[in-house]
Amino acid sequence: MNDMTKFDRFVGLNETKISAQGVNVFYGDTHAVKDVSVEIAERAVTAFIGPSGCGKSTFLRCLNRMNDTIDGARVEGQIHLDGEDIYDPKVDPVQLRAKVGMVFQKPNPFPKSIYDNVAYGPRIHGLARNKADLDEIVEKSLRRAAIWDEVKDRLDAPGTGLSGGQQQRLCIARAVATEPEVLLMDEPCSALDPIATAQVEELIDELKRNVSVVIVTHSMQQAARVSQKTAFFHLGTLVEYGDTGQIFTNPKDPRTEAYITGRIG
Ligand SMILES: Nc1ncnc2c1ncn2[C@@H]1O[C@H](COP(=O)(O)OP(=O)(O)OP(=O)(O)O)[C@@H](O)[C@H]1O
Ligand SMILES: [Mg+2]
Repeated sequence: MNDMTKFDRFVGLNETKISAQGVNVFYGDTHAVKDVSVEIAERAVTAFIGPSGCGKSTFLRCLNRMNDTIDGARVEGQIHLDGEDIYDPKVDPVQLRAKVGMVFQKPNPFPKSIYDNVAYGPRIHGLARNKADLDEIVEKSLRRAAIWDEVKDRLDAPGTGLSGGQQQRLCIARAVATEPEVLLMDEPCSALDPIATAQVEELIDELKRNVSVVIVTHSMQQAARVSQKTAFFHLGTLVEYGDTGQIFTNPKDPRTEAYITGRIG
């Protein structure tokens, strides 16, 4: 091992967190994801981009087995997290999803109080020793999701009573409360105003110090701002994957170029 490799290992650059090999997903006869192989880097932000219907959400859901919950969805291929096969029958999908958290495009708070939405994960996974601990986790998570000031005086109010953008930030707080190692975010800012979007992007930037983040976005500007790696999908296939700078300034595939310059989409 030369010095450079040692340095890379030390700071965790380019280590693989999730490795997907030959992933195919079918919904009945629809072949939604076609032979996708990709290595998701540890402690970095990876953006998935591509036209509507190209399979970004479907592939994202493979990474924490959320497709297991969709009737008629069939996943083939191999996905390893830290070298372990996440589709091994020994793996408990609930445990897996605590490690590989998810934020959906449409906010989906539980029909519970704001406090209980965030406390839910830490409670079922035994992350708090007592009420004070739990209070601290709830506050920290709400702060990280940039919503604490708006809800701190009504933690007992139902999460579903918040505005769309607030609900989304609540869901982000819920997702970070279990300290996931990987966070999958499917168009997390599509319901947010520019101020909340900037705050969520700041959170993503902070998270990448110890979390691998995968974000699906339709905003090229957002992908360029927050990600280090970008994967471009088209018609179910992964067309191109590389450093974000390279993908946006010097794409190798004409389809990538057409998409980022707005000619397909
Ligand atoms: N639950 C489902 N049942 C049947 N077909 C589905 C289902 N979910 C997605 N599909 C199909 O799979 C393909 C990929 O869809 P997917 O939602 O992954 O695309 P996407 O890239 O996330 O699109 P968008 O940018 O619009 O969110 C599409 O053809 C879609 O119609
Ligand atoms: Mg989608």
